[in-house]
Amino acid sequence: MKILILGADGYLGWSMTASLAKDNHELILVDNYSKRKYMEDLKRKPLYKMPLVPQRLKNLKKTNKKIIFYKTDCSDYKKMKAIITKHKPDAVIHFAELPSAPFSMLNNKYGWETLQNNLQSTFNLIHCIKDIIPDCHIIKLGTMGEYGTPNIDIEEGWLNINHNNRKDKFLYPRQGSSLYHMSKIMDTDLIWFYVRNYNLNVTDLMQGPVYGIYHDEFEKEDILAPTFTYDDIFGTVLNRFIVQAVAETPLTVYGSGAQIRGYINVVDTIKCIKLTLKNRPQNGELAIYNQFTEQFSVRQLAQLVKKSLKAININATISNIANPRIEKEKHYYNAKNSNIEKLGLKPLKLSPKVIIDIAKYVNKHKDRIDKRIIKPKVNW
Ligand SMILES: NC(=O)c1ccc[n+]([C@@H]2O[C@H](COP(=O)([O-])OP(=O)(O)OC[C@H]3O[C@@H](n4cnc5c(N)ncnc54)[C@H](O)[C@@H]3O)[C@@H](O)[C@H]2O)c1
Repeated sequence: MKILILGADGYLGWSMTASLAKDNHELILVDNYSKRKYMEDLKRKPLYKMPLVPQRLKNLKKTNKKIIFYKTDCSDYKKMKAIITKHKPDAVIHFAELPSAPFSMLNNKYGWETLQNNLQSTFNLIHCIKDIIPDCHIIKLGTMGEYGTPNIDIEEGWLNINHNNRKDKFLYPRQGSSLYHMSKIMDTDLIWFYVRNYNLNVTDLMQGPVYGIYHDEFEKEDILAPTFTYDDIFGTVLNRFIVQAVAETPLTVYGSGAQIRGYINVVDTIKCIKLTLKNRPQNGELAIYNQFTEQFSVRQLAQLVKKSLKAININATISNIANPRIEKEKHYYNAKNSNIEKLGLKPLKLSPKVIIDIAKYVNKHKDRIDKRIIKPKVNW
């Protein structure tokens, strides 16, 4: 297939690129390096220094020559239009958003930039597809955080409602807990507007927090590794806990740690996206999958890390700190996720071995861990 990957320099975008390149797809990559820029501005740094995309492509091109990279901002409509008109991809995978809740809540500037960047990138993409190649399959990364923590089961994207003896199906109610989540909710609404009015075909993946490192492609050469962040603003919880354990600093659980979410290994993220590439929805259909494999509370994750790493002589400690976020700590949480398994996903479950493997990788870069950037500094 000819696949356009937006946000190809990121944690998931690069892992996806490395994997699809191995499968010999023709790839067109886009990224404006904004994640790198914001990390620099905020004095946060990833676990290891990543070369820029052209440098990393040199290695990938040993297996696949059909890869082009554009250092381009997806919120620039003219440039997006030119790329899509020139390449006419069969599918687009859209990762190109600012994905951090704390970043979006840091101040007025970053809050607005998150809303603007995410909505404008999605709007430009979907508008170009409508005008130029309406049959192209858009795969958009959403987040489980769009649903919030309702006191009823979370369905996969849609809710059937029976009201005054009449029935209809609606988008499941969304309740974001940060401006980042609000931007994803507005994306979903925008996408649904275009799908139902212009017969587009879109897959929206409601993804839970991702952990791990995409292995296969870079076992021998670190140069192919994706970005790995562990700081308070750009890092996700399980990766951060493992880094804290390796750095011999307490695992910081926000509040009581009873908050439950659905999590997924990056290896499964890649598999899920590949499954959805093979299962394009009908024109006029918005397919929504809840893309996570297991639910855990934050406290359970911390305890799992602590217990698992004892086997490699890492004695982690856990510290409950004041919760910097406005969120329910004690709540009902039961999210459905069977649609992606019906497509054939065999989940890689979180186990001591999985945690140990990530810790061993992190340990190779132990001297680069900066303990000062882990403690939460953004409150809302
Ligand atoms: N990582 C997770 O745990 C997680 C969980 C749920 C959903 N998601 C979603 O998955 C997607 C990818 O997440 P990630 O963790 O890889 O994030 P990331 O920040 O590592 O990657 C996003 C990439 O997009 C680029 N980008 C942002 N805006 C752009 C623009 N306007 N033009 C061009 N490039 C742009 C950034 O430079 C970055 O390289 C996001 O949409 C995010 O909301 C991620």
